[in-house]
Amino acid sequence: MAYRHFEFIEKHAWALGIGTAIMCSLGGLAEITPIFMEANKVQPALGVKPYDPLRLAGRDIYVREGCYLCHSQMIRALRFETQRYGHYSTASESAYDRPFQWGSKRTGPDLARVGGKYSDDWQRLHLMDPRQVVPQSNMPAYPWLSLALIDSKDIQHRMRTLRWMGDPYSDADIAGAPKALAGKTELDALVAYLQGLGIDNEPPKSAAAPASPAADGGAP
Ligand code: HEC
Repeated sequence: MAYRHFEFIEKHAWALGIGTAIMCSLGGLAEITPIFMEANKVQPALGVKPYDPLRLAGRDIYVREGCYLCHSQMIRALRFETQRYGHYSTASESAYDRPFQWGSKRTGPDLARVGGKYSDDWQRLHLMDPRQVVPQSNMPAYPWLSLALIDSKDIQHRMRTLRWMGDPYSDADIAGAPKALAGKTELDALVAYLQGLGIDNEPPKSAAAPASPAADGGAP
């Protein structure tokens, strides 16, 4: 009996197609549904605050300029990553990142904890002309960022939308936003964003890096 069913499916491509689609959907549901449930439970990590207006504007420039195409913000739980970049990234650190900037391409280093690694001046110079500070760099230069002032008109709309999505901005935060951006260039905002990455939310050292070679697949 069962054999005849198989024979029918094997001889009719459309039946095989429909059967395959049904099985893939079931598998997909089993994989994806729990992730949606978990996502609602993610709480901001201790010390993670919503972006202040300048950093929020800088984050938009990071997205606009496509920095995520070369830089990830996702330190994996592998020893060679944690030794280079610091504690591995956790979901709760990205609670206020919409959309998240984890990225999937690393032409340049991971930036999840780059805040405070260099001075503001280094960051400025590096964005204006990377080869001034890293002669062998192949990162593009972004000289126009220092010429454009931040458009502070829409920051309040952005903050209200984020509040609607759950970010705890107060009325005073939103009211003060245009003032905080007055006279700031896109370069100021992007540097403020970079300098804030990972500074307040790195989990304590005691919880650091997988300690046993087995836990990270024995990576060097
Ligand atoms: C074409 C790929 C590429 C793009 C696009 C790119 N970068 Fe880079 N970035 C690199 C490379 C390669 C390095 C390493 C060499 C260096 O320091 O310049 C780097 C280094 C950096 C560093 C120093 C990191 C460290 O830990 O030393 C920062 C900060 C940085 N990039 C920020 C940015 C920002 C902000 C943008 C978008 C405005 C951007 N990058 C766009 C390739 C890129």
